[in-house]
Formats: sequence, structure tokens, C-alpha cells
Amino acid sequence: MSQPLLAALQPPPADPILALGSLFAADTRPNKLDLGIGVYKDEAGETPIMLSVKQAERQLLASRTTKRYVGARGDRQFAAAMLDVTFGAATEASRIASLQAPGGTGALRILAQLLAEARPKATVWLPSPTWLNHQAIFAAVGLKTAYYPYYDTEQSTVRFDSLCDRLGSATPGDVVLLHGCCHNPSGADLDEAQWRTLATLFLERDLIPFVDIAYQGFGRGLDEDARGLRILAARLPELLAASSCSKNFGLYSERVGCALVLARNPREAEIAAARMTVHARTIYSMPPDHGAAIVRTILEDVDLLTNWHDELTSIREDMNEKRARLAEAFLQASGSDEFAYLAYGFGMFSLLKLSRAQIEEARAAFGIYIVEDGRINVAGLPVARIDAFVESILTIRKSPH
Ligand SMILES: Cc1ncc(COP(=O)(O)O)c(C=O)c1O
Repeated sequence: MSQPLLAALQPPPADPILALGSLFAADTRPNKLDLGIGVYKDEAGETPIMLSVKQAERQLLASRTTKRYVGARGDRQFAAAMLDVTFGAATEASRIASLQAPGGTGALRILAQLLAEARPKATVWLPSPTWLNHQAIFAAVGLKTAYYPYYDTEQSTVRFDSLCDRLGSATPGDVVLLHGCCHNPSGADLDEAQWRTLATLFLERDLIPFVDIAYQGFGRGLDEDARGLRILAARLPELLAASSCSKNFGLYSERVGCALVLARNPREAEIAAARMTVHARTIYSMPPDHGAAIVRTILEDVDLLTNWHDELTSIREDMNEKRARLAEAFLQASGSDEFAYLAYGFGMFSLLKLSRAQIEEARAAFGIYIVEDGRINVAGLPVARIDAFVESILTIRKSPH
């Protein structure tokens, strides 16, 4: 007799962000504050459905007559519209394969599968630090990963020189993952000149960029946030991009994303699309339809598009305003400009310089939930609670650790 099927399995290590969410849910203190999971929250702590999304849903409800299968490639019009949102006019659309995917994560996984069959020996270089799931996704398809320096926690800045040094010695043919904007977890982004330097480096070293753009529109603006990706796309023969509609359309639970591949020519783009379709077919067969239909409806309707742009702008401005207020509150309370970087960051996240013990103390003493690397979701912090939050953090920083 063989041993029972499940006997050799061990429980996986806890996902720190999901574990934090469970602790938060079990906490009965009324003043608890969740700065963990990455969703946008308004001043009341809600993550509301956008009005443009509601309106598109009403239109879909009234006009749809079938729930037939959508096909493994998903909705072609959605994918074409997303190609436009991400790449703009940076390069010829005929060289880009696009495939609807279940969220940014689904897009990352499909592209990882494509990489694993096109270049199984490549190393995928990830920024240090990065979103935890990146390493796991590439490992799941058997690809090697390594890290390049990205963020200096002491100085709270991008380590661009070290980044270039490290990638300058990567093996030709390797793949480099970059956050298109709103770097998770640091909020520290590359500027235009740095993207241009990278384009040259990638060309010279024969490296393939893989841009994860999960927060387009949350940083500087919809087009501005794609500028880095577009700079690369205009100069390089090949590039991969995973885009998500979870954040900028607030469609977290609907699972909407897009896998995009820039190829040397239309023929290779079509092959890439066909290969990705095969991968989709063996993982989930077809992507969920509703969320992508909402996005397409918005992107194809002038009025809905204007409304969505306005809503996205107000979310972005709210987050930037919160960042400025938070930095100012730290300055006033500490007399130090050490926290000024919070105002210069983009997107939802920034890192606080706290030890594990201090993060634990924030939770135990003040009910403040921060991810174990010090990441806070700035969008989860109500303006009315900024001063109290700053006071708690400064108190904790004085305690021994
Ligand atoms: C950097 C990054 N990439 C991709 C994703 C995936 O987003 P989703 O699968 O929810 O669209 C996230 C989500 O948190 C992220 O932070």
C-alpha cells in the first residue's frame, strides 16, 4: 500500500498580508486601523463601486441576451482597448498580442508560461523588494528568479546606480521585471530619464523587459503612469506587460486583466497570442466575462470614459493629498524631514522604517495593522486619523527594539 495521498503534504507558510487580514477581522477594538491589504478606501473606510462601473453594469444588464462562452482569448474588443490604454501610440499595434486574463495575476501567470516555453533557461530578475507573489508565479512555471537592488530603505530612494550595475551583468536573454508605476511596496518610481537609461541598457545587454502595470492611473495620471512602458516599447524589439483593472476600475473581485506581448513583427505576435491561448485553455479555459465587459463598455463610450477619468483622477488626487498631509504631520510632530519621502511616493503604498517588534507593537498597543516589511496602504488611512497615527508611530519608534 502506498501512503495516504495527503500524508506528505505540509501546510504552506502563511501569506503575511492575508494573515494580517484575519488578525484584523478578529480584533474587536473599535479604533483598529487596517493599513494592510491593497485596496483603495475613501474617508469612511469603504471601497465603493465607481459610478461609471455601475452605469456600465446597468447597460450590460439591459442589453445582454446571452451568456455564451467567450473563448480562451476572451473579449477581443476589450483586449484591443486595453492595448490602447497601456501602449498608447508608442509602437505599431500589429506587433502586440493581447489576451484578456483573470486579473493582473492571471496575466502574469500566462506570460510566465509563455516565457517558460520560449526561454526555459532564462533568469527572471525581480526588484528587491517586490510584491510577494512575483517570485511564486515564476517559480510555479519552473523559471529561475534572482533579485536586483531597487529600493534603499535607509535613504528611502530608488538605488538606480546599483540597479544598473546589477542588471549590467545579467546574462543576455534574461528577463527583467519592472513595476510600470506605483511600485509595490515602496511607492518609489523611476523617472523618465531612468526609463530611457534602462531602454539603452536592455538593448545593449539583450535583456527582455517584463512590465507589471497594476496601478495605472493611481500615480501621476493614466498616460503618465504608462510612460516608462511606452519608452521601452518604442525602442525595444520585444517586451511583455501584465496589466490589471483591479485598482483603476475598482474591479478587484471581478478579476480583470490583460496579458500583452510586443513582438518583433505581426507574425510573431500572432504566434504569441495563439500560445497564450493554449495556456489559458489548460488553466481556466476562458476568463470570466463580466468585469472585462464593464471595462470595454466604459472604454468604448465617450461619456462613460469621461466619467471614469474623472473618478480615477479624484481617487489619485485623494491619495496624493493624503501623502502630503501624512508627510506634513510627521514633520510637525517630529521636527524631522525624514518622512518627506512619503509625499514624493506614488500609489497606495509606502514603507515605514519599523522593526518587526515595532510593527507588532503597533498592532498590540494601538490596533494599527502594518505589513511585516513596514508597508502601509496610505489609501487606508482616513485624514481624520493621520495625527493620531503619526503620534502612535513616533511613540513606537522611541521604544527599544
Ligand atoms: C505589483 C502587483 N502586480 C499585480 C497585482 C495583481 O493584481 P490583481 O490580480 O488583483 O489584478 C498586484 C496586486 O496587488 C500588485 O500589487
